[in-house]
Amino acid sequence: MRQPRSSRIRHELSLLREWARFLIRGHGKAWFIFTHVAPFERLLLYRLGLRQTRGAVFAEIGSYLGASACFLAAAAAEIGGGARVHCVDTWRNDGMSEGMRDTWIEFQRNTRRYASLIIPHRGESVHIAKAFTEKLDLLFLDGDHSYAGCRSDVENWLPHLKPGGLMILHDIAWAEGVERVVREKLNPLARKQGQLRNIYWAWV
Ligand SMILES: C[S@@+](CC[C@H](N)C(=O)[O-])C[C@H]1O[C@@H](n2cnc3c(N)ncnc32)[C@H](O)[C@@H]1O
Repeated sequence: MRQPRSSRIRHELSLLREWARFLIRGHGKAWFIFTHVAPFERLLLYRLGLRQTRGAVFAEIGSYLGASACFLAAAAAEIGGGARVHCVDTWRNDGMSEGMRDTWIEFQRNTRRYASLIIPHRGESVHIAKAFTEKLDLLFLDGDHSYAGCRSDVENWLPHLKPGGLMILHDIAWAEGVERVVREKLNPLARKQGQLRNIYWAWV
């Protein structure tokens, strides 16, 4: 699902609106959190979060140091009505090229401003999914990027998404496993879908 260059550039330029809004609303510090999620991708998460209704429930699988979590939490803060973000991670740096390390303290420090909106779940994503009881409006997958891991995340988390809910996956452009899961599992289900460089989203 490659986007033509001209439409990709138009899409990215349109995200400058969210960039300005993000700064004006006082979320600017979140830009300084280290992450592999590109700036336009973070702004897209913010935009997709803002399009949810009051009280919406988000979940993010793979939170690392908290960068994308802050962009989703910023949207949750603005839509209000008890909107919140469930963050799921082992906070052991599983599968990261820099090697295993404990990232929990850094995540907590970086997300402190949104602590009242973020519910962290520390553990293996599949175990957390099995015990999870809320219905989700938005689900962002950025955890295990292998084919088996990503497929298992989709299979275990998708049932928690409300009908018509929004599913977002990161790293579709470089992680073959993620691309294959999108092709096999999500393309057939998607009512509407989009992609911007390395990030894919679909209403399912
Ligand atoms: C690419 S990073 C996430 C990046 C993050 N979204 C950001 O904003 O920078 C992937 C994260 O997924 C976590 N992870 C990988 N496999 C996991 C699993 N099976 N269960 C829970 N967390 C996992 C890693 O510990 C790591 O923090």
